[in-house]
Amino acid sequence: MEIKKVMVIGAGQMGGGIAQVSAQAGFDVVQYDINMDLVNKGIALINKNLSRDVEKGKRTEAEKAEILGRIKPSVSLEDAADCDLVVEAIVENFDIKKKVFEELDRIAPAHAILATNTSSLPITQIAACTKRPQQVIGMHFMNPVPVMKLVEIIRGLATTDEVYKTIEEASIKMGKVPVWCKDVPGFVSNRVLQVMINEALWELYEGVAPAENIDNIMKLGMNHPMGPCALADLIGLDTVLAILNVMYTGYGDPKYRPSPLLKQYVQAGWLGRKVGKGIFDYK
Ligand SMILES: NC(=O)c1ccc[n+]([C@@H]2O[C@H](COP(=O)([O-])OP(=O)(O)OC[C@H]3O[C@@H](n4cnc5c(N)ncnc54)[C@H](O)[C@@H]3O)[C@@H](O)[C@H]2O)c1
Repeated sequence: MEIKKVMVIGAGQMGGGIAQVSAQAGFDVVQYDINMDLVNKGIALINKNLSRDVEKGKRTEAEKAEILGRIKPSVSLEDAADCDLVVEAIVENFDIKKKVFEELDRIAPAHAILATNTSSLPITQIAACTKRPQQVIGMHFMNPVPVMKLVEIIRGLATTDEVYKTIEEASIKMGKVPVWCKDVPGFVSNRVLQVMINEALWELYEGVAPAENIDNIMKLGMNHPMGPCALADLIGLDTVLAILNVMYTGYGDPKYRPSPLLKQYVQAGWLGRKVGKGIFDYK
């Protein structure tokens, strides 16, 4: 199946990036969020990213205008009615995603593929919220989307080979390298990554070292480009907690038990870079 028009649900850190790489791939894009302020904020960030590319000589002003011209703002899920692919990138909460998938299943054309950018929720369970589980798939982009090469592709139990192939090809068109894995809580990426981040948060909770030292030890000692505390702030501490909870319940294994400090940061609304404060201060 050929993808021509893509709708991206959510204009946050991930949704905006997915809309950008979709438009760069030449797809017509609809960028949705629950209100126009959020949509405009997402599109403004895309504009800023593209301007930086122009400054660096990576693309021309004309190319930037063409890419932006392919992105249409939306606050109505009904706009999925003529899309070939919908990529959902809203909060990491099953009940909220369920409602959106039920709606999308009602609105999107019969041939359309419904993809989710979930970091950890079971693709099979999300697919079961629709009457087209064979056309539901995990398309897990990395943050920041325009920069990171990987798309982790996760098939639900019912996902067909044809749908998998279409999503693999669309990811390559978006300039990404698709790598598949099975539908397990946290997939491959977050099952490894979040255990490390959580361990850093346990160290912080126990007072083993300040966040700067934890990050410097991991950067200088393990050659990680970012320390786990800075990375947690980049991902969003609410998302980190949600992923850990999915793995904690999904495997029933205490090794995924979230650090109490992480819970406290989320309760305080210190969600990381997106709000200007997390483990570190960004104001
Ligand atoms: N942050 C990361 O590093 C990262 C990486 C890979 C995947 N993900 C996944 O991508 C998804 C989005 O994460 P994000 O970091 O972009 O979050 P975010 O908080 O930056 O953005 C979420 C957006 O979804 C919007 N939204 C649209 N419809 C909604 C609805 N019905 N209910 C609630 N919100 C709605 C919100 O308004 C908000 O703008 C999550 O599933 C997350 O697990 C995140």
